[in-house]
This record gives sequence, C-alpha cells and structure tokens, in this order.
Amino acid sequence: MKQLLEKIKQEAINSLQNAEKIEDLESFRVKYLGKKGEVTSVLKGLGSIAPEERKEVGALANEVRAIIEEKLNEKKEAVQNALMNEKLKKEVIDVTMPGKKCDMGKLHPLATVRKQLEDIFMGMGFSIADGPEVELDYYNFEALNIPKNHPARDTQDTFYINDDVVLRTQTSSVQVRVMENTKPPIRVISPGRVFRSDAVDATHSPVFHQIEGLVVDKGVTMGDLKGTLELFMKRLYGDDVKIRLRPHHFPFTEPSAEVDVSCFVCGGKGCRVCKKEGFIEVLGAGMVHPKVLKNCGIDPEIYSGFAFGIGLERIVMRSYNIDDMRHLYENDVRFLKQF
Ligand code: PHE
Repeated sequence: MKQLLEKIKQEAINSLQNAEKIEDLESFRVKYLGKKGEVTSVLKGLGSIAPEERKEVGALANEVRAIIEEKLNEKKEAVQNALMNEKLKKEVIDVTMPGKKCDMGKLHPLATVRKQLEDIFMGMGFSIADGPEVELDYYNFEALNIPKNHPARDTQDTFYINDDVVLRTQTSSVQVRVMENTKPPIRVISPGRVFRSDAVDATHSPVFHQIEGLVVDKGVTMGDLKGTLELFMKRLYGDDVKIRLRPHHFPFTEPSAEVDVSCFVCGGKGCRVCKKEGFIEVLGAGMVHPKVLKNCGIDPEIYSGFAFGIGLERIVMRSYNIDDMRHLYENDVRFLKQF
C-alpha cells in the first residue's frame, strides 16, 4: 500500500509538470483527487487492510493527498499567471504608434467669409438681425416701395408661393421688420439666403447670399454711408483698397448707388479680372427712402438712415480667386478641401 501511494505521488508530480492548460489540471484533479480518484480509492480501501497498518497508511494517504493538492494549486496559479501575462502582452497599447487619421470637417468658404464680415461689422457696433426666407410679399416688396406692377419686380425674378407669399429675393425685407420693431438708433446687419429664379451659370445661382446693413438715427448722411463702407472694405481688404460710388436706382433708397472696390489683381489699373475697369461691383446702397421709413412707423422728418446690401458670393469669389460660382454649391470635396 505504501509503495502504491508512493508511486501515485511520483506519477502525479510528473504528470503535473507536463500540464499546461486549465483543462489538463481539471482532469488531473479528477484522476487523483476526485470521488473515484486514485488517492481517494486508497483512502476508501483502508477498511480492508490490517488495523495495525491502517493508521500509518491512512496518515500517508492523507499526506500524499495534501501534497498533490498543494502541487496542483501551485500549478494552477502558475498557469493562470501565464495566461494573464500572455493576455496583457497581446492587449498592450503602443502609445508611440502613429494615430489613425480621421478627416476633420471645415467651414465652407461662404461660412468663413460670412463670419469674417460679421466680425468686422460687430467691431463697428452693428448687431445681427434675422428674418424669414419664406416672406410676405409685403416685406419683400410692398413696404420697400415696390408696389404690385412696379417694373423693379421684373428685375428680381421671384419665386411665388402664392399671391402674398414669396421666397425673399433680397435681405432688404429684414430692414422693414427691424424698423417696425425697433426705435432708432438702429445699427444692424442681416446675413442670409435669398432666392431668384435665375438660370445657373458661372456668376448666377437661384440661391445666393446677401448681407443687409441698416443704420437709422438722427442726422445720418450719405457721408456716413460712404465712411462706413470705406472702413468696412479697408478692414476686409487692407488699407490700400479704394471704393467708388456710382449713381443707381433702387425703389427703397434715395439717392441710391452701386459701390465698387478697386480690383484685387491690378489694384485699379485695369486687367482681365476686372474687365479693364479697375473696379469690381460688390454692393448696392443708398439713403433709406422717406416712404419706407414712414411705412415702418419712423418719422422721416426726425430720422434718416442708410442701407446697403452686399453680395456674399462676390466677396468669397474675390477673396479666394474662385472663377465659377457653381463650385460654391456643388459640395465637391476636392474643391472644398482647399480651404
Ligand atoms: N436689395 C438690393 C439688391 O438686392 C441691394 C440694396 C440693399 C440696395 C440695400 C440698397 C440698399 O439688389
């Protein structure tokens, strides 16, 4: 019996050395220590041996059992440690590896320039006003001194929703809304989308952007208009820029002017970009017509004002040297990536 136990012990220790997986250890446990295991069998068979030997063999069997158990636990721990180490090694993160590049979104050039213009005007004391794109005929035309059948309606090919509702053709509609609701002094700009039923080409689009400006106070003059626009253009393009006012007609301003800036390519000498003019047209402006002030409940005997409407696309195209307006709307990533 003692020899048998000794043999079992040696065998167990040897086979443990070769075990590598958790499953091997489990079958090992069953084989030696389980209910029908080899050591257990010896212990169970104690009854059938001579009483003198029983005590000694019993003690030895228990000792062997304890040794095997201990070795098994040691091995289990070692195997588990090895497993954990392997896992840690596999999952290690190399923080020095170059990161995965993810594409960053950017502002569209129209948004960049709009923000830039807003910043300039806010720096000059203007605040920002907003108005609806789907607008009443009254705000887009009627209150701006453009009654039904007025020829000026033909120059702004209008999308009509019904007889009274249009897609606004100009941000000038916001002038009326602001003046209706605000007591002078007023100093606002209003950037936004406008709509005209124009065919698409390099310089036309049925949807484009304007930035309206409106100043109303006591004693506002054409000189204030010119000074404001000059300062704005200098902030935008640098101190060398020159502006030029040409007489024009808008029903809602009197007098009215179209405003040009000196060409960014030739500086005023005349070149291909400015078509030998030396100047490029960027906005319409004028003194708010007394009838418009009156329509909005402002007394033209006390107050006067000026207004201007900047075409945003023109400025963007000028800033980035873009020769075709369609690039701004086609959302071609190859184009947009450049800004
Ligand atoms: N609303 C005019 C246009 O769209 C521009 C403008 C605005 C002119 C304000 C004068 C004053 O052409």
